[in-house]
Amino acid sequence: SPASQQPTATSDAVKDSAFLKACRREPVPHTPVWFMRQAGRSLPEYRKVREGIPMLESCMRPELITEITLQPVRRHGVDAAIYFSDIVVPLKAIGVDLDIRPGVGPVVERPVRTRADLAQLRDLAPEDVPYVTEAIGLLTRELGATPLIGFAGAPFTLASYLVEGGPSRTYENAKAMMYGDPELWADLLDRLAGITAAFLKVQIEAGASAVQLFDSWAGALSPADYRRSVLPASAKVFQAVASYGVPRIHFGVGTGELLGLMGEAGADVVGVDWRVPLDDAARRVGPGKALQGNLDPAVLFAPREAVEARTREVLDAAAGLEGHVFNLGHGVMPSTDPDVLTRLVEYVHTQTAR
Ligand code: CP3
Repeated sequence: SPASQQPTATSDAVKDSAFLKACRREPVPHTPVWFMRQAGRSLPEYRKVREGIPMLESCMRPELITEITLQPVRRHGVDAAIYFSDIVVPLKAIGVDLDIRPGVGPVVERPVRTRADLAQLRDLAPEDVPYVTEAIGLLTRELGATPLIGFAGAPFTLASYLVEGGPSRTYENAKAMMYGDPELWADLLDRLAGITAAFLKVQIEAGASAVQLFDSWAGALSPADYRRSVLPASAKVFQAVASYGVPRIHFGVGTGELLGLMGEAGADVVGVDWRVPLDDAARRVGPGKALQGNLDPAVLFAPREAVEARTREVLDAAAGLEGHVFNLGHGVMPSTDPDVLTRLVEYVHTQTAR
């Protein structure tokens, strides 16, 4: 509603970009493309600037954040940049003792298992993340008409790391709390929703022109459990940033059975992994939402003809959608040949030029 819309730093040129138009389900000059994890280990220039700097430290240096965020934009000509950070940065910023171990992922020193543990999680204030505001200020100047996507981890995916103490395939401790102490679980997710919302607000107020909420591991849940135990917290995050009017993207892996609910949580754009064709996903999500996806990232290891044939299939499945943002079905794998990504951007642009 324009009357209650809060001013954001998004310029008119950015508002007119193919990416933001597709998110708003408006006609586009070509299908916009960006890749989850487009900044990162697939790029030699990333490995070079990261040399000797631990992951979390690199997320707190504005010049380095700016350089790494810009690298895939320069190299691939993608239609959007994604702010370089990690989903655990806001938790680190409020004092949670955690680290990101190479080849492992986030590891939490003292897992959150009790109400006393929960009391240690305080709200996030903008002063906790000054480097975010500074980096986005630098970035929006450098990016010109290219939109910047801000992001955060969704309450469930953050809780999975906090309760398990690290990556998990089964989420047994998180689910034990969810089923065994639903009140503690709800309070934990609600607290995380507040932290996540605050982190997204900092990014939007600094100049991010869209946001993506990563609920990467929500696919581990049944629809009933998602609706009861996760959706309310994710909805709180989306609601908290609704008045800015920037597109809100929601993504998880293996979420074919949850796509409708993830839209219901408050997303404007629903991200789809490679397991569900986009036309089928559109029926599951229902009208009024754009879709993002969904080439299998492993396809990029096949010969060029196969990459193009599979990309063509994604574009054909997307042909009837109200809005489509091309992406992979999950993040770029570190061993991906970056030239394949560059060619893919070009292929989607030429195939969809109107
Ligand atoms: O370009 C971009 O997409 C922005 C950068 C980005 C990172 N993490 C940088 C990163 C984004 C969007 C994330 C989000 C993130 N982090 C998610 C959600 C997205 C998804 O993949 O589902 C999750 C689950 C995490 C947690 C996390 N952090 C994992 C699983 C890992 C990988 C561990 C490993 O080494 O394999 C990380 C570390 C991480 N985050 C790296 C990068 C570039 C690798 C560390 C490095 O480069 O040294």
